Amino acid sequence: MADERYCFLVEWYDQFAALIRRYQLMYYSRDNSVEMFDIKNNRLFLKRTKCDGLRLENLYVGATVDLFSRQINFIDYGDDFTKSRLAQQKERTLGIIKPDAMSKVGQIIDAIFQCGFKVTQLKMCRLTRNEAFQFYQEHQGKTFFDNLINFMTSGPVVAFELMGVDAITKWREVIGPTDSAEARKTAPMSLRARFGKDNTQNACHGSDSVASAAREIEFFFPSVGTVRQNTAKFTDCTCCVIKPHAVAAGNAGKIVSAIMDAGFEVSAMQMFHMEKANAEEFYEVYKGVVQEYNAMVTELTSGPSIALEVRAQNAPVAFREMTGPADPEIARHLRPRTLRALYGQDKVKNAVHCTDLAEDGLLEIEYFFKVLDR
Ligand code: RTP
Ligand code: MG
Repeated sequence: MADERYCFLVEWYDQFAALIRRYQLMYYSRDNSVEMFDIKNNRLFLKRTKCDGLRLENLYVGATVDLFSRQINFIDYGDDFTKSRLAQQKERTLGIIKPDAMSKVGQIIDAIFQCGFKVTQLKMCRLTRNEAFQFYQEHQGKTFFDNLINFMTSGPVVAFELMGVDAITKWREVIGPTDSAEARKTAPMSLRARFGKDNTQNACHGSDSVASAAREIEFFFPSVGTVRQNTAKFTDCTCCVIKPHAVAAGNAGKIVSAIMDAGFEVSAMQMFHMEKANAEEFYEVYKGVVQEYNAMVTELTSGPSIALEVRAQNAPVAFREMTGPADPEIARHLRPRTLRALYGQDKVKNAVHCTDLAEDGLLEIEYFFKVLDR
């Protein structure tokens, strides 16, 4: 394999100095090694060191990566080679699961992962009329515009950013032609053929160009200013976190489907890239109590996770039942149909976090959807 050198501008928050430190980070593809220069002090910070587990596919602008126990934020490309090489490989697009397909949200998320897209952001939102107007400004004046606005504001949607080679075109292929009836004729495997109803209620959206992808991603996931409101209800709820290993294995959609098939309402959903300090705070009650505490923190910060507000009567107890014993090995023996039996690997990578104590259900939901989603 050629020894390609990729260069990024990265940041690391130094808790002790309360400073953001900036580095130039080189990644060498041949032996998976990295090297870091301290930009401000103009000196080598980390000499070229092998970094097992690090893969080029996880390095992109906007990524958060664990490197030698530090959480490194990738801010920008560091040179033209890296920029031109990765711009194609890591094209971004915006997708939406529209209100008519929200009962199929698990199946659609599963299809996204099975098609090989990398999901880099995801959030359940509910658009106001104003927001829908703004999002679909290009269609103002068209005959179907009022219809479209009514439809898109009729219930929650799930918006997500996808990344991959040719992501814009590929995602539009996966969703199929605009008219669901047409899709059933010409692209029967497409998402609109499978889940859409007609010309307007067509299950999914996909950006149609690099420029609209950039605008639409910024609309749902603004890089500056206030975030778009989530849909959490904060009543009769408990917290489920689909852990990073389960997201990385492409099991998030299957887990969401299983939860909804069991009769729970999934009323909020969002991807988080947890920082270490937040993971420690979230798991505080386990500190000194559970032997795996440190490993749990490491797992939760190892990549994107997806938090869900799960609602039902007596939600914390009912949801624990379907989650199963903390140890997937035990779960597979005693409760083989539970989420952990099906999707867990070991006591730390046990597919999902679920609230332990009934009275913490709301607190944990508030932690994700009020504190972290600012
Ligand atoms: P999208 O933007 O949602 O990915 O869909 P698209 O590119 O395939 O279709 P576009 O022409 O951009 O239209 C945006 C959405 O408006 C609704 N529509 N209704 N004749 C009609 O009733 C009609 N035409 C379009 C659809 O929801 C379409 O996805
Ligand atoms: Mg369009």
